[in-house]
Amino acid sequence: MRFTVLAIAGSQRHGNSEALARAALEGAAAEGATTVFAGLAGRRVAPCRGECFRTCHGDTVRPWQACIYRDDAAGILESMVEADGIIFVSPVFHAGIPAPFKNLLDRCNALSRFQDENIFSWLAGKAGGAIAVGGARHAGQEAVLGQLLDFMLSMQMVPVGFGERQGYRGLAALAEAAGAVASDRWVDYGSKPAAALDLARLFGAKVARYAVVLKQGRNQRPGSPGRKAEETIRGG
Ligand SMILES: Cc1cc2nc3c(=O)[nH]c(=O)nc-3n(C[C@H](O)[C@H](O)[C@H](O)COP(=O)(O)O)c2cc1C
Repeated sequence: MRFTVLAIAGSQRHGNSEALARAALEGAAAEGATTVFAGLAGRRVAPCRGECFRTCHGDTVRPWQACIYRDDAAGILESMVEADGIIFVSPVFHAGIPAPFKNLLDRCNALSRFQDENIFSWLAGKAGGAIAVGGARHAGQEAVLGQLLDFMLSMQMVPVGFGERQGYRGLAALAEAAGAVASDRWVDYGSKPAAALDLARLFGAKVARYAVVLKQGRNQRPGSPGRKAEETIRGG
């Protein structure tokens, strides 16, 4: 079965988030996924003003294309809708997600619609993974992972943990200067240290394995939320 894993690097520079995202995609590709990278470096995403509820949640097939802002968000949202698994990679800025990346997540409001008191999400049933990279220890990685996981839940995605490596909530890396993540060694409680990029590959592979199983499930279950989203988009 063909399936796609997307990784989004939420940094404004070509730095550690991008390196981790690309490593995660290498792991996903090894599991047979078609991979897509989307980075925010050099891209412009305006903040959601929440003033256009009818446009955003309207009945048009691809409402995110109808957003009042003509910037780079729609293209990334389109990739999210097309993907079966999405890996979100964020730097830590003042113990949280940097504003430009949060802008993108907020613009995902266009990927949900309120219908008969239910929230319909175009991301429902897709696998998701969270990776955070910060310059210091105990300085916000877990908070960022938590924000990303909550975002996934808000979109009815299925978050994937990294339990085998004691990373319950995903992968946290330590790196300051751009590229420094390549030398981050991550100690696995008593076992040998592993490199952050290797762990990102393992995590990407795991998200890919969930992505394909979930896709198989959606295909077998007409009417399930994720299947409904795909049928809506493809006019099925
Ligand atoms: C404005 C700003 C705020 C930051 N705040 C934090 C922080 O609160 N905690 C932390 O661990 N690192 C912090 N950092 C360091 C970055 O998270 C770190 O350099 C990271 O590797 C950047 O990822 P990137 O290379 O993908 O941009 C901050 C960096 C900047 C520029």
